[in-house]
Amino acid sequence: MDSRNLREKFIKFFEGKNHKLVAPASLIPENDPSVLFTTAGMQQFKRFYTNPEEAPAKNIVTCQPCIRTSDIDNVGDETHLTFLEMLGNFSFGGYFKKEAIEWGYEFLTDELDIEPERITSTIFSGDDLNSRDDESAGILESMRLKYKEYSREDNFWGPTGDEGPCGPTVEFYIDGIEVWNLVFNEYYKEKDGSYRNLQTIGIDTGMGLERMLVALNKKNDVFQTDLFWSVIQEIERLTDLKYGSKSDIEYIKDNKQCWVDIRKKFRIIADHVRATAFISAEKIEVANTGRGYIVRRLIRRATRRSKSLGMNQPFLVELADVFIKSFSTYYPILKEEKDFIRKNLIDEEQKFQKPLDWVDQYREDLEAAQKDNIIKKIKDIPILLKPGVASGEYIYENFQTYGVPPDLSKEVAKELRLEVDQAGFDNLYKKHQEISRSASARMFKGGLVGQTEITTRMHTATHILLKALQEVLGPEVHQRGSNINEERIRFDFSYPKALTNEQVKKVESIVNEKIRENISVVKRETTVEEAKSLGAEAQFVDKYIKYGNLTMYSIGEYSHELCGGPHVKSAGEIGKFKIIKEESSSAGIRRIRAILESLSTG
Ligand code: SER
Repeated sequence: MDSRNLREKFIKFFEGKNHKLVAPASLIPENDPSVLFTTAGMQQFKRFYTNPEEAPAKNIVTCQPCIRTSDIDNVGDETHLTFLEMLGNFSFGGYFKKEAIEWGYEFLTDELDIEPERITSTIFSGDDLNSRDDESAGILESMRLKYKEYSREDNFWGPTGDEGPCGPTVEFYIDGIEVWNLVFNEYYKEKDGSYRNLQTIGIDTGMGLERMLVALNKKNDVFQTDLFWSVIQEIERLTDLKYGSKSDIEYIKDNKQCWVDIRKKFRIIADHVRATAFISAEKIEVANTGRGYIVRRLIRRATRRSKSLGMNQPFLVELADVFIKSFSTYYPILKEEKDFIRKNLIDEEQKFQKPLDWVDQYREDLEAAQKDNIIKKIKDIPILLKPGVASGEYIYENFQTYGVPPDLSKEVAKELRLEVDQAGFDNLYKKHQEISRSASARMFKGGLVGQTEITTRMHTATHILLKALQEVLGPEVHQRGSNINEERIRFDFSYPKALTNEQVKKVESIVNEKIRENISVVKRETTVEEAKSLGAEAQFVDKYIKYGNLTMYSIGEYSHELCGGPHVKSAGEIGKFKIIKEESSSAGIRRIRAILESLSTG
């Protein structure tokens, strides 16, 4: 059975059980700046679990593309993916555990003809916070289905973000692979960490399309399903290497004998190119922060693998073409945004060639140091902090001087079974970049904020803030000063009296609205005349003219300011904007203090 067939079967089956088919949500969640990507089928329906009357139907079925950046380090094995499709059935007060479990089993055995002996299940064992799922246990027993009991980590789902609907799960496994997660949303987790019972229990299930195809077709991994196979073959053709059935293949390059897990590289390349294509199709440009940084990271990781397979750029884009062709029938957005996708890949792959040479160099340095088991130094910097630990100082040096992304250096160290002196890196990073320790630690982990320069995000926020103030208070408001550090924004502006609470709230919500709209920020050279005609804010025209360049930053059509930058590429990277204080600064001047709440995963 191929992917098309499986999607159709699933949807038909649940339509037959009175479910309404709903179109997949965008990979970029709407109205939810707290998460970068859609990570689950239920995300677009989150509010229906607390407000079931707003749902377009009591029962819904979908096929939802998801991005799970938390799995990026696991990609390369048989089942993990960054981009995946989830088939799901949902209910908001329509049916409960019994139907969900029975229909799930019926679909597996009757529709997909899976032999019952291949199927096992699990339930939530309970803990101090939430009780054991006795009800599901009883249902499974009455169906004579074997189950195991697992703890919270495996069998309790959600919420996405820090609050929301959540509950115990039943999972179906086939041949030991987890293929279907049935979530019974019976609790609501509050911000303070407590749980209350939901009035109407909800159903949220997710079946990984790729994993199910593996089980159905008895393949060894998701890359041998029809979703990937044409791309794997294309990699074989272009590299002249075989994906093969054994994990280690010997090949010789530049007279060097290499033992490499070829399949792992194929898998990482294929997964990352596919994820890049889907994210790019949402018009996300490569960037140093937020979503754009995820794209950058995916392309760089794939580029590194393809270079090690002996491929020169442009390479990834040829694979993207294969994906675009095969997925466009189901996801036409890929075809529509083909040029944008290709450009993202081509530009970044090319830009990354040079730093990549240094990544290879770094690996050689580490290997040499490891082999001699001494604290070898380069430019007076130790390569290893002590035997078995890669020095943070050297990783920092490579980053500063050659642009080697720290997360890649860390990856290299890990490949060589070395630990990393993260504190050493953090210290230097903090000292030199004046970025908060936490931001750098997140970045170092290869986390979502990436190489966030919080002050850059704040800087763009002040442009929007000024405009919002003018919108709420009147055009006579002008900037009188601005001071940004990694903790907060301090912004002074001309206005004769204190703002009311409503005015403050209004300003804050306008700024967040603009952020959510993710308007692009464009930098360009301009003339005094043009700037004036656009009504651009120009505090220091004289200074700019003196320095010979008049640069204007435009945030969509919303704000134009003469300014030296730097700024984020699109407003969405800013994160959540929050005014914490409005006060007097001096006569006729008010002062706003604001912070940014950073983006996080769900
Ligand atoms: N939300 C659950 C998951 O993502 C079930 O769909 O696994």
